[in-house]
Amino acid sequence: MNLFKSSNDAAKRAVAEAALAYVPRGAVIGVGTGSTANFFIDFLADLRNQIAGAVASSEATAQRLKKAGIEVLDLNSVNELPLYVDGADEISPDLHLIKGGGGALTREKIGAAVARQFVCIADESKCVDILGRFPLPVEVIPMARSYVARQLVALGGAPDLRIGFATDNGNSILDVHGLEILNPIELEREINQIAGVVTVGLFARRPADVALIGGRNGVRRVEPRA
Ligand code: A5P
Repeated sequence: MNLFKSSNDAAKRAVAEAALAYVPRGAVIGVGTGSTANFFIDFLADLRNQIAGAVASSEATAQRLKKAGIEVLDLNSVNELPLYVDGADEISPDLHLIKGGGGALTREKIGAAVARQFVCIADESKCVDILGRFPLPVEVIPMARSYVARQLVALGGAPDLRIGFATDNGNSILDVHGLEILNPIELEREINQIAGVVTVGLFARRPADVALIGGRNGVRRVEPRA
């Protein structure tokens, strides 16, 4: 048995349950992608009759929501999202995030952008002082991937094509290794401006509002440092 994994799962489950307190009754909420978001969906099933539905950040999440008896709505049919709940691959003390390990970064970024409140849920292994040890995912239009890769090398990164993977939008992912991200807001802007980039998995211009971090001592609520 993998003890590290099972204790991580306990922490993920705990933060997923804690996020239920943020769910406004009667509203449509946004739901992210990944193992932590999956635990959240499992808990959200108990509230299925108290919410109006959910907008999913991936096909996988849409399937899981439907299986849980939660109506899945198109974002275009929804006027507002009071809440977006999602995991992360790395979390800085400013609640800047790296996301996209599961490849759903574009729809995740849209969910976070629309939401009034973005609650990030994660186990404490995701907390770092400086972002960048986790390879930064960049979703690219397939015909531009070599050009984008060269531009990412010029920015100091070592991009790797995620082999055999296509996003829900039919695009490719470059995972960028070797970055020490000292200015996430600026790097997000720079990578966004490369022609052919759909989305960079840096969530700094729109960070999380609250992070619920699970560890051995339970769940702690973190807000961006002042
Ligand atoms: C999906 O594309 C990612 O952004 C996930 O939110 C992130 O990888 C966290 O996943 P876990 O909850 O599985 O660690």
